[in-house]
Amino acid sequence: MNELHRSGISEFIGNIKNLQRSFLGSFLRGGKPTSDKSRAALMFNNFFLHVQGVKTHINTLRPTYTFGLGIISFFLLIIVVISGVMLMVYYNPSIERAYNTIKDINYVVFAGRLLRNVHKWAGEGMIIFVMLHMTRVFFTGSYGKGREFNWIIGIILLILTFGLNLSGYMLPWDQLAYWALVIVANIIQSPKEITDSLGITQYFDIGGFSKELFLGGYTAGQESLTRVYFLHVMFFPIFLFIFLGVHFWRIRKDGGLTRPENLEPVGKDTGYASRPEKTGGIFPTFKTYGLMELARGKTPAVDKDIENTVPSWPNLLLAEFAVFMLTLAVVVVYSFFIDAPLREPANSLIPENPAKAPWYFLGLQELLSYSAFMGGVGLPGVALLGLALIPYLDREEGNVGIWFSNKQGIIEAIKALIVGALVNVGILVFVVNFGWFRNWWPNIPQLLITMVNPGNIWVGFMIGWSLWVMRKGKASTRMGAIAMFTMFLVSFLIFTYMGTYLRGPNWDFFWSKSQWPIH
Ligand code: HEM
Repeated sequence: MNELHRSGISEFIGNIKNLQRSFLGSFLRGGKPTSDKSRAALMFNNFFLHVQGVKTHINTLRPTYTFGLGIISFFLLIIVVISGVMLMVYYNPSIERAYNTIKDINYVVFAGRLLRNVHKWAGEGMIIFVMLHMTRVFFTGSYGKGREFNWIIGIILLILTFGLNLSGYMLPWDQLAYWALVIVANIIQSPKEITDSLGITQYFDIGGFSKELFLGGYTAGQESLTRVYFLHVMFFPIFLFIFLGVHFWRIRKDGGLTRPENLEPVGKDTGYASRPEKTGGIFPTFKTYGLMELARGKTPAVDKDIENTVPSWPNLLLAEFAVFMLTLAVVVVYSFFIDAPLREPANSLIPENPAKAPWYFLGLQELLSYSAFMGGVGLPGVALLGLALIPYLDREEGNVGIWFSNKQGIIEAIKALIVGALVNVGILVFVVNFGWFRNWWPNIPQLLITMVNPGNIWVGFMIGWSLWVMRKGKASTRMGAIAMFTMFLVSFLIFTYMGTYLRGPNWDFFWSKSQWPIH
């Protein structure tokens, strides 16, 4: 009995000593992997890891191929969700209390200000990194070869990312939030510009109806905040995760990321292939080869990894872990020093002048100042449709997986960059100095301004330039797409800069904020 008792105790102590190893073993199923087979099994059997392939192509691990931009966007989303759930403990979506709860988070809650900053900057970081990721995917031609649909999913993710940020911007219910809500409501109402011009608003007021649906009434108030809160904490996050699931699943089904077609095969000499497994039996030996897979190549690839792949464990996972730590560190350090803005409480009687949308919408607000409908609905619609159609209008499969496709691609991108910047700035200089139709002919019909305004002229120029690129010399739809996308990026930057730094009260042009009139 005593003997039994003692052995039970010693076993218990042994279990405590082994706790770390046995827990890790249960998590990893079969302990730390030592062979390629067990590494593969580990990736396969783990719920979180099986989203990724057992093997990863070495091109995927090249930092200068993806720059980790997609995975950084994903990690930022995870940071946003975790910090957001913590903020929900304190935040209260009522127009009487919202502002004060944000103040409490800033000044009363322990580390609340840091938490709020992390949430805010990780969210805005997503906008930057998702745009950069899209740029990487575009310039490496990774929207083709069966990946067309994933590109479309990407566009949906882009829209959801903007929506998630914009809806969050309105929650503090300060002056910034309130007047941004009013601007967005007016953008939603902008089809009225067309129905008014056609004189059919009293029968078909789609603009007015959409605005009312968004605000939950005729003016911004409690119903609006409730709706925006629902969009921010339920609608956008849920759909982001659903579409991200599809995005990642498609990457697996498409055979991983794109890569250049004719990469030289690499084998053991790269240091990636691992030591063969020990066989069982009375005289164990190391297997030197086995008929495991059918591999492309001219000679039997004994001891060589299949077509330039390496085990995802640990190669891919370590890289991802490093990127995650770096992302988290940068967000936390930035948030430590830079505070998320909070103005005075919302006041519907004192309009902000200028009333500005958040920075990522200021390009649109500039277009909006030419024509509400074209800036709010028409041109963003054309831009999104154009982006979504790229893979279907350019179906060239050569040079996929190579930045800018070839030398000509680099030249077309540089040309589009220079010409696009010059024409875009030229249009803005003209508008600032000479105004537009309404300044010259005050009674001109609005429909004419809707159809012919600086925004439309710019988009017309981009389309014309891209068609010209496709026509001349070595005609190529890919080159046309490169020209178009480059100009889109250039104008996004220029319009955003214009709206952010050069527009002041009454949306007038100023070289700097110090020149704004004091009122
Ligand atoms: C929340 C937003 C997004 C997240 C978290 C995300 C995440 C990712 C990740 C992790 C990858 C694999 C590795 C990498 O390229 O870094 C990837 C690949 C891809 N993404 Fe995204 N993505 C997002 C938005 C977009 C957008 C806006 C587009 C394009 C419009 C897009 C199109 C693609 C395509 C086509 C691939 C496959 C690329 C290839 O085969 O080389 N994604 N995405």
